[in-house]
Amino acid sequence: MPPSDESLAAPAAPAPTSKSAAIELSRVSKTYGEAAALNGVSLSIRRRQFVALVGGSGAGKTTLLKTINALITPDSGSVKVGGREVATIEPSFLRRSIGYVFQGVCLFPHMTVGENIAITPRRGGAPPEALADHVEGLLDLVGLPREFAGRMPDALSGGQQQRVGVARALAAKPPVMLMDEPFGALDPVTRDGLGNDFRKLHNKLRLTTVMVTHDVMEAALLADRIVVMDEGRIIADDTPAALLAGHADKRVKALFETPRRQAGRVARLLVEGEAGTEADNELEASAAAREDEAADKEGGDDA
Ligand SMILES: Nc1ncnc2c1ncn2[C@@H]1O[C@H](COP(=O)(O)OP(=O)(O)OP(=O)(O)O)[C@@H](O)[C@H]1O
Ligand SMILES: [Mg+2]
Repeated sequence: MPPSDESLAAPAAPAPTSKSAAIELSRVSKTYGEAAALNGVSLSIRRRQFVALVGGSGAGKTTLLKTINALITPDSGSVKVGGREVATIEPSFLRRSIGYVFQGVCLFPHMTVGENIAITPRRGGAPPEALADHVEGLLDLVGLPREFAGRMPDALSGGQQQRVGVARALAAKPPVMLMDEPFGALDPVTRDGLGNDFRKLHNKLRLTTVMVTHDVMEAALLADRIVVMDEGRIIADDTPAALLAGHADKRVKALFETPRRQAGRVARLLVEGEAGTEADNELEASAAAREDEAADKEGGDDA
């Protein structure tokens, strides 16, 4: 993939020490008027972890995500990326260090797909020749044809636009990816495909990812760890397997109960389907045997 131009090189920092977490929030609060969007949130995410952030509408998920890349400044508490307070990191550097996929795709409609993808490295001063190669490499990476670079966003399907959103967020080779409902509003098959493709990218590029999703099943199937939020607080934080097995908090239990029940029902249907197929096979076999028998008999009569 892409050129060795300095402005396209992966950001050298926020240089994490081996001990520091990739992302560290400590007692972070943010209030709008009377309402606390974040209420003393502490969260430590180690490098290369894939964390899903789930919870109801208004729980504080987007607010939490935006404090990580300093789009929102908390009223109190500390937010560190790679061991450094984000408030002290130069904003353009921070933008290149953290890829952000916005809630809703939010491509610029008046720019081509290629221009959309290249926006962060272009702001970093990368020369146009290097950018063209870089865009092609990124289109390859997210599984889109290279000729899409010249198209306008409205000439792409919803799923293709979401892939462009991911390519744009990856353009400056950030070590950290924040994704706010990246695969929302897509049909289940496209959504599943995109989710799995992104998980592969996460592994291949050794990213640290925080992904907001409403879909608990998606969270369980893609993430290493699920953080559940409610009213600006973290109410659960564990592996998908542990959360699916049950939880003391009844809000958390309720959240995981439906996907667990559905998965159980599907598993039973599959077993029934297999049993049905076996029975069908037996019936077919005995019908074939009867036909053979009849044919033998006919042959015998002829003789
Ligand atoms: N700029 C703002 N001004 C006032 N209130 C805000 C602002 N941004 C967020 N809030 C409030 O903070 C709370 C948390 O909002 P946030 O956007 O983080 O929720 P969310 O969990 O992302 O919800 P959704 O799933 O609907 O996207 C909500 O009650 C919201 O109304
Ligand atoms: Mg949100």
